[in-house]
Amino acid sequence: MKITILTIFPEMCEHVLSSSILGRARQAGLIEARAVDIRPYSSQKHKNTDDYPFGGGQGMLMTAQPIADAMKDVCGPDFHGLRIFMGPKGETLNQKLVAELSREQELVILCGHYEGVDQRALDHYIDREVSIGDYILTGGELAALVLTDTVARLIPGVLGSSSSAVDESFSAAGLLEYPQYTRPRVFEGEEVPPVLLSGDHRAIAEWRRQQAILETARLRPDLLKTAELTGKEKQFLLDRGFEDAEELGRTERNDEAE
Ligand code: ADE
Repeated sequence: MKITILTIFPEMCEHVLSSSILGRARQAGLIEARAVDIRPYSSQKHKNTDDYPFGGGQGMLMTAQPIADAMKDVCGPDFHGLRIFMGPKGETLNQKLVAELSREQELVILCGHYEGVDQRALDHYIDREVSIGDYILTGGELAALVLTDTVARLIPGVLGSSSSAVDESFSAAGLLEYPQYTRPRVFEGEEVPPVLLSGDHRAIAEWRRQQAILETARLRPDLLKTAELTGKEKQFLLDRGFEDAEELGRTERNDEAE
């Protein structure tokens, strides 16, 4: 997977791309990620990348020319990837979209700035607009890095163990992750749940599944509408006072799956 972030603040991206798991994945050659500065592509004498909006209005817009030339240079004639603009009007990023994007050969991600981007740059050079949530950032860099991070961790080998990306919140089962504990066994008077020390793998798996269901019911009940729950699991929620559990879950899991 190759990821290029087009930005007027490449140093802001480089730092994140070189740190932690992303940095290691780059060094190991598992992903090719880089930030490319748009400014040198400007044909203006002072390398400006912004201008006033036609029709008036607040602030400045990113001009189309440097973006177009950067895109042409970065993508080349046989580009087989996806060109994404990070902006608050885009489709909201979620784990399903992340999984879809992680199957692309190459992503080129454009970061907006100022009060927006000349629409023609988006019309001519962007395939998809993605938002990371219903709020406004000062620029697209943080959003581009969120997208890069979420996509990269799904590339085989990027996370240490291949199971880490499966057994987690928003995975196929549609449940939040169960709570986890490490040493010490007692912290500020609170003990680790005894089942986790029992060595009984079946009991541990069952406890974790129940905790995932409870955590989801408590924190994100909306997710339970599409989660796969057995009849017993719905009853488990009803017994604990989650009264809407009757209507929840697609009940695709049969009770034997437990
Ligand atoms: N740029 C500004 N706000 C943004 C958002 N919410 N998501 C993606 N890019 C943005």
